[in-house]
Amino acid sequence: MEILIRETPEAGCRLAAKIIAKVVHEKPAAVLGLATGRTPLQLYRELIRLHREEGLSFKDVTTFNLDEYVGLPPTHDQSYRFFMQENLFRHIDIDPARTHVPNGTAADLQSECRAYEERIASAGGIDLQLLGLGRNGHIGFNEPTGSLRSRTWIKILSEQTLRDNSAVFGSFDTMPHHAITMGVGTILEARHLLLLAFGPAKVRAAMEMIEGPLAAICPASALQLHPRATIVLDEAAAAGLQSAEHYRWIDRHKLDWQRYE
Ligand code: F6R
Repeated sequence: MEILIRETPEAGCRLAAKIIAKVVHEKPAAVLGLATGRTPLQLYRELIRLHREEGLSFKDVTTFNLDEYVGLPPTHDQSYRFFMQENLFRHIDIDPARTHVPNGTAADLQSECRAYEERIASAGGIDLQLLGLGRNGHIGFNEPTGSLRSRTWIKILSEQTLRDNSAVFGSFDTMPHHAITMGVGTILEARHLLLLAFGPAKVRAAMEMIEGPLAAICPASALQLHPRATIVLDEAAAAGLQSAEHYRWIDRHKLDWQRYE
């Protein structure tokens, strides 16, 4: 795992935007896996800025989002399709036909799961998958104890996740309790993983992901198995790491070609 600790979420997002921009510069038809939530908002703003001010083009890029709430149509303002339109897609030159978000209103959700896997495979797999980190260690909506080899599937959201995400829905009871999400096995097949976690609420999950045992109780610990997992933390999220000095040492001693900034 490559652990990069930055002072603030803003600095972490600028770094993440550079990592993504590098992928797109090297491969203009890259396939990007995307995430929603509070964490990547600043990163998406930075990608929009790079597009507007520095000519970063997404015109040949294909995207696959991690997840979507079951039952929310794309027009619902809390659906993840709506989130992506508002916070990224409508501000850049991406071809809407190349943007994919699981369909949470499919009549047959099981076949939508299979079809999503097929769409990823026929695009040639994911070059870089962006991830956030749930307070309980989830990635996508793969909640604790879900299989580490899972494929795109329907998950029941944990109480913790409902609590964390219910504010925007008004109440716990009116928000969807199920989601369609790439599985941990699907996520691990991306060629490069880029996970962002900021703020004190993520301290424990970051410790368990990086320094805890590989265990389904912390789905993000599966990143330990990946040959190329980059984790960007701010100081607040890194506060519980035992070996933070070691990660900083490694970061300072990188060779030029190993650096992103
Ligand atoms: C979002 C997703 C989730 C979030 C996680 C963190 O598509 O898959 O795993 O990344 O719940 O959410 P925030 O960023 O809101 O703290």
